[in-house]
Amino acid sequence: MEKLRVGILGGTGMVGQRFVSLLDNHPWFEVVTIAASPRSAGKTYEKAVGDRWKMATPMPESVKNLIVMNVNDIVEVSAGVDFVFSAVDMTKDEIKAIEEAYAKTGTPVVSNNSAHRWTPDVPMVVPELNPEHFEVIEAQKKRLGTDRGFIVVKPNCSIQSYAPALHALKEFGPKVVVATTYQAISGAGKNFADWPEMVDNVIPFIGGEEEKSEQEPLRIWGKVEDGKIVKAEGPVITTQCIRVPVSDGHTAAVFVSFEKKPSKEEIMKAWNEFKGLPQELDLPSAPKQFIKYFEEDNRPQAKLDRDYESGMGITLGRLREDKVYDYKFVGLSHNTVRGAAGGAVLTAELLKAQGYITKK
Ligand SMILES: NC(=O)c1ccc[n+]([C@@H]2O[C@H](COP(=O)([O-])OP(=O)(O)OC[C@H]3O[C@@H](n4cnc5c(N)ncnc54)[C@H](OP(=O)(O)O)[C@@H]3O)[C@@H](O)[C@H]2O)c1
Repeated sequence: MEKLRVGILGGTGMVGQRFVSLLDNHPWFEVVTIAASPRSAGKTYEKAVGDRWKMATPMPESVKNLIVMNVNDIVEVSAGVDFVFSAVDMTKDEIKAIEEAYAKTGTPVVSNNSAHRWTPDVPMVVPELNPEHFEVIEAQKKRLGTDRGFIVVKPNCSIQSYAPALHALKEFGPKVVVATTYQAISGAGKNFADWPEMVDNVIPFIGGEEEKSEQEPLRIWGKVEDGKIVKAEGPVITTQCIRVPVSDGHTAAVFVSFEKKPSKEEIMKAWNEFKGLPQELDLPSAPKQFIKYFEEDNRPQAKLDRDYESGMGITLGRLREDKVYDYKFVGLSHNTVRGAAGGAVLTAELLKAQGYITKK
């Protein structure tokens, strides 16, 4: 099979590097273009990244000598690719405009950015949870006046540590959710060397994160109506998001009450048996088992469990009945793999499998 040609907007940054690493030897996609700010444009990828390479594995040989392009040269960048992943760091308005401009050249954009997460005809997708939202792409294409280009986004990294667990329990009607997230420093694009303040520290504030964590699951559980996503009315979700001294992996401590309280056995069964379209279609980046429950009292742990299913699975533990709510449990997901670039790659695989992304 001829591979699809991929461009990465913001490919020199932390999320961009994760895309580059995940796409090395990908069976369907090949990175042919990397674009970044004018500061990097014209340099080889290796030179543009310099000492900023933050991945645990070395930079793939295949990208080292690519000449970095300027993200703002939309026509030139689009000309050589079948679709792009977006991970640029610009203002929200700039990102909105530039992603639409790419889509209008007939180039599908799979974005890691938050700019379009609430644009009514842009699907925000976790492939196992709401692939049916791709249906609004047709309306979006009409609005943008394109027959091939569109934007699809993935949600914030924090919600993957609890929303899939709740989704698997939808038949019991989750009614009230209280979640505290313990979020890794890579979520801010940092490691300990460039954020020494985080060593031996906890910071009880992450700008904008609580609103995203409370609202985005409702959009994921929303309905398609007249070419738009209408968000779900419930459950009521309240969160606190806290930065903790962990390199990778967001943990969530969750309390939940249901319309119809399930037994512990029913919850375990729903989690263990939960499958989505990526598992049914056996997509290249799909975890075989999306949700894994640990019986051990001291799991999941960020360091031990974030790489479960290559960072694409969700791990849960500590399910017990609660005195105030029905149940409480703990969830964990890899924030830069499942929560960022990996989630976007899986989304692109599903878009390709369903014929939304094709060769130009
Ligand atoms: N880190 C995470 O876990 C995470 C998770 C979800 C979402 N996000 C979002 O993803 C985006 C990227 O995050 P990151 O952590 O990878 O950021 P980053 O490491 O700072 O990288 C930013 C990228 O954007 C490029 N860029 C910056 N200013 C630009 C400009 N004015 N014009 C064109 N390109 C520009 C940079 O190019 P140069 O190298 O040339 O400067 C670089 O490629 C952000 O919007 C962030 O909010 C991050």
